[in-house]
Amino acid sequence: MSNDANDASSTTSSASCKIGAGPHAAAAGPAGKRPAPPCTLVIFGAGGDLTKRLLTPSLYNLTVDGLLDDGMHIIGVNHGERETKEWLGDLGKSLEQFAANKASEAHTGKVDEKAWQWLSSRMEYMAGEFETDDAFEALKQRIEKTPHGNAIFYLAVGAGFFRPIVERLGKLGLLKEDAQRKGSFRRLVIEKPFGTDLASARDLNAHILGYANESQVYRIDHFLGKDTVQSILAVRFANAMFEPVWRREYIDNVQITAAETLGVEGRGKFYEQTGAFRDMLPNHLFQLLAMVALEPPNSFDAEAVRDKKAELFAAIEPLKRDDVVLGQYEKGDAGVGYRDEPDVARDSTTETYAAARVFIDNWRWAGVPFYLRTGKRMAARRTEIAVQLKRVPFLMFRDTPVEALTPNVFTLRIDPAHGTRFDFNVKVPGPAMQIGPVRSAFNYNDYFDERANVGYETLLYDCMLGDETLFQRADSIESGWCAVDRVLHPEGGALPVYGYAAGSSGPAQADELLARDGRAWRSLQSKE
Ligand code: BG6
Repeated sequence: MSNDANDASSTTSSASCKIGAGPHAAAAGPAGKRPAPPCTLVIFGAGGDLTKRLLTPSLYNLTVDGLLDDGMHIIGVNHGERETKEWLGDLGKSLEQFAANKASEAHTGKVDEKAWQWLSSRMEYMAGEFETDDAFEALKQRIEKTPHGNAIFYLAVGAGFFRPIVERLGKLGLLKEDAQRKGSFRRLVIEKPFGTDLASARDLNAHILGYANESQVYRIDHFLGKDTVQSILAVRFANAMFEPVWRREYIDNVQITAAETLGVEGRGKFYEQTGAFRDMLPNHLFQLLAMVALEPPNSFDAEAVRDKKAELFAAIEPLKRDDVVLGQYEKGDAGVGYRDEPDVARDSTTETYAAARVFIDNWRWAGVPFYLRTGKRMAARRTEIAVQLKRVPFLMFRDTPVEALTPNVFTLRIDPAHGTRFDFNVKVPGPAMQIGPVRSAFNYNDYFDERANVGYETLLYDCMLGDETLFQRADSIESGWCAVDRVLHPEGGALPVYGYAAGSSGPAQADELLARDGRAWRSLQSKE
């Protein structure tokens, strides 16, 4: 999230940062950013979905913005022999499809041939097993031949491969910084899921930190790559009006929603083992929670922000089983039931929906409930944070029906709408003093040209610069798992999983979770 690439690049190496390198040299990158230092980016899992859908389009977008150095080299490692040309052919074809698809985050209209040519000429496929030394030896030789010696190892693989890959990189010396050239960097990027509970996350952290320093480890949560998520800190701290009310004295509750209309989309195997709770809650939803609730850091420096996040995660009260509701979609207007999806057991009890009531035990938030929910095949696609303020004293409006005096709600809209919204009350025009609710909205694309952004551009760029602000530190990951551990290993048996119709707002029991507190979820059905 570096806001000054000069600063950031100076912390990485003395490698030359040529302004405007790449095919679009004349056009400075966004906000005057400069190309990242040269490096070899090794992608383990080059044949996977992530490489195709997210990494390649992001690297392409960075190329278009002139943010990659001429010395960039990308090696895609995967099982199975393949020609580089064929691999690139596939990636190029997908890129074209995404570019043409208006619904895709990688929509750009048409692929810029010159940019793709520039990027693809720096990409190479390497067949290799993740659990034997051969590919790692070959990688070592390749990297040692580069004048800069910088390398990023991106683990775009199933979680089962994290340990063997890190072990081999470590044992063969590929994670040793400075070894080849003073100031050269070696970094590891690790995708989620980072563990499946507290014990496994601790174990994985210990394993990785046995071979690399914390400063070399970039644990990804792709929600942090979204501009709308990064903007939460800007909205909170670059404006005077929010901070004074952003506390328990004024805020009644906060609702964090990540609802999807899609089902498991061919990921049945992964989902059966993971479930909605582990897939979304202690990572993506907790990241949103942290952004909205953390104390003001002294700067946007990586450690300043991450220290405040760590404090916040540590203050989350461990969830109890009564605070959580799980659900599974059943056949409904919007499609088949989860149990009828491919690779899903016919009697599966895996949840595709999770809701939780979370409390943060610190001076700012004690007693304010944060309601989190996420689910597949729901009534609407909506990721947002709604901050509801307390009701005003009612006496002045005693002649007004209570329902007309709706609470103020400030909504940070993450996806698919990008912006903010504020619900407040005004006088309805006319002779009587009548109150009516209105809404004022800000949409990013009314003010800014929204750039093609799949969410990984900033993350990749920051990793090349050595800026860890948007990546998760070991302590925060562990605190996140710690807060949910009692729910993952509940006393008294597994939590019940309630049915909900595909295309609905989730199970009725989730409504009861809020009704108990005299509250209700914000409607997913209401028109945007
Ligand atoms: C992923 C989960 O991490 O995030 C998916 O594994 C989920 O199940 C996805 O669909 C949601 O991300 P986004 O950016 O599409 O909201």
